[in-house]
Amino acid sequence: MPNIACCGNDAASQLKVDGLVAWLEAEWMPTRVDQHLVTLNTTVAIIDDTVIAKFDRAFPLPGGYAFSGIRDIECPIVARVTNLSFDGDRVDRSGAFLYQFTRDGEAVDVLALASYYTDEVNSWRMVCVASVPQDFIAAWHAFARECDRLHSALDPTPRVIIIGGRSHSFVPTVNWDEIVLPEKLKSDILGDVSSFFLKGIDVYKRLNLKPFRKLLLAGVPGTGKTMLCSALARWALERQYVVIYVSSAYKGPNDEYGSTFSKIQHALSVAASSNHPSLILLEELDAFLHEEEKAIVLNVLDGNESSINDKGTLLIATTNYPEAIDERVLKRPGRLDRVFIVPETRTQLDAEHMLRQYLGIMWQEAHRALVPALVGYPGAFIREVAVYALTQVAYDDMPELSYAVLEQSYQNLKEQLEARDDFLKQRNGEPVLGNGYSAN
Ligand SMILES: Nc1ncnc2c1ncn2[C@@H]1O[C@H](COP(=O)(O)OP(=O)(O)O)[C@@H](O)[C@H]1O
Ligand SMILES: [Mg+2]
Repeated sequence: MPNIACCGNDAASQLKVDGLVAWLEAEWMPTRVDQHLVTLNTTVAIIDDTVIAKFDRAFPLPGGYAFSGIRDIECPIVARVTNLSFDGDRVDRSGAFLYQFTRDGEAVDVLALASYYTDEVNSWRMVCVASVPQDFIAAWHAFARECDRLHSALDPTPRVIIIGGRSHSFVPTVNWDEIVLPEKLKSDILGDVSSFFLKGIDVYKRLNLKPFRKLLLAGVPGTGKTMLCSALARWALERQYVVIYVSSAYKGPNDEYGSTFSKIQHALSVAASSNHPSLILLEELDAFLHEEEKAIVLNVLDGNESSINDKGTLLIATTNYPEAIDERVLKRPGRLDRVFIVPETRTQLDAEHMLRQYLGIMWQEAHRALVPALVGYPGAFIREVAVYALTQVAYDDMPELSYAVLEQSYQNLKEQLEARDDFLKQRNGEPVLGNGYSAN
């Protein structure tokens, strides 16, 4: 991907375009008057080498044309500069290029001029104009659009692509087995996801519906929803699907990157142009349903706003506050296809499983006495009890974890939670629903 943005609407880009057009009009067009050349502003995707390398030469263009190649030509007013990607691959380059198209032995040439300029904040940008024969405009437009699509299309990578976060991608590491939840819930979720991709797409197509499915994982904080997303991401990457994670957390300097609809839209367009089965993970859906953008987010859930690729797009949203997602979302058919409630630990067996998992080699049979007290708490709480206890052992150089230290760790965390809940209740003047761990 080029790291240089395409042209903006600023004065500097206009000046640059004016210069390129003046040259075309003085030097190029007079030599080809019979072609009725028209100057078009065009996408910088056409000068991206990786796009051109991927462009299918058999791609049918309007009028029966096919793209056959590019030739560099001399042009004194544009410097030739090649821009390398971070990995050292050649991506876009400035210069003058003749794009060649053929139809039954007949050839059409389009001259494109691409030039760098610096905008008012001194970032490098690029402008690109093309001199296109009047009769060829439809074919050129289709060519440029396909280049645009290839430019944003992603090949599956073994990483999750992050939209709106500080980093660009991550490798999910959660194993399905590490997640302690009722087996039926886990197998229902995985079953839903896998049958959508493996069997569902054809059904959607037969019914003439967009292959777009939307699931919601709802539950109080710390029950394992993010873990489930991560494990599903891993499952999907193993099958070479495209996985996209929409991060609501990162806010830019002007608050522009928080929970904004543009991120959802970006994720959907990446999925749509990828042409691979795509999984979109949208954490904290409730945060996106703020007043200004709620209507448009609901439209997306309806599938009205988005083009969906044929291979299928599955959106998995999560929420810690299902009460923030009102009936318009939950009850209306077609908006969310299925809601899974991710519960706090329900059985002693699960509580013990989790405690053992997080205590690791420090686990002792005596610790089992704490298990009944852990039922009703989310996994994150049980993990905290274990981690806190283990840090005590490390700080005090104890050879092993005694039951007393473990129990004390539980009591401390329980009190902290209760104090926090009381504080929140007092502040809000009412019970805080679903807004904390509840031990019942
Ligand atoms: N069901 C669970 N099984 C195992 N560990 C869990 C579970 N739920 C939570 N945890 C632990 O708590 C941490 C936070 O859980 P997370 O998945 O982020 O919760 P949520 O997204 O529901 O708020 C996890 O990384 C994991 O260590
Ligand atoms: Mg989470």
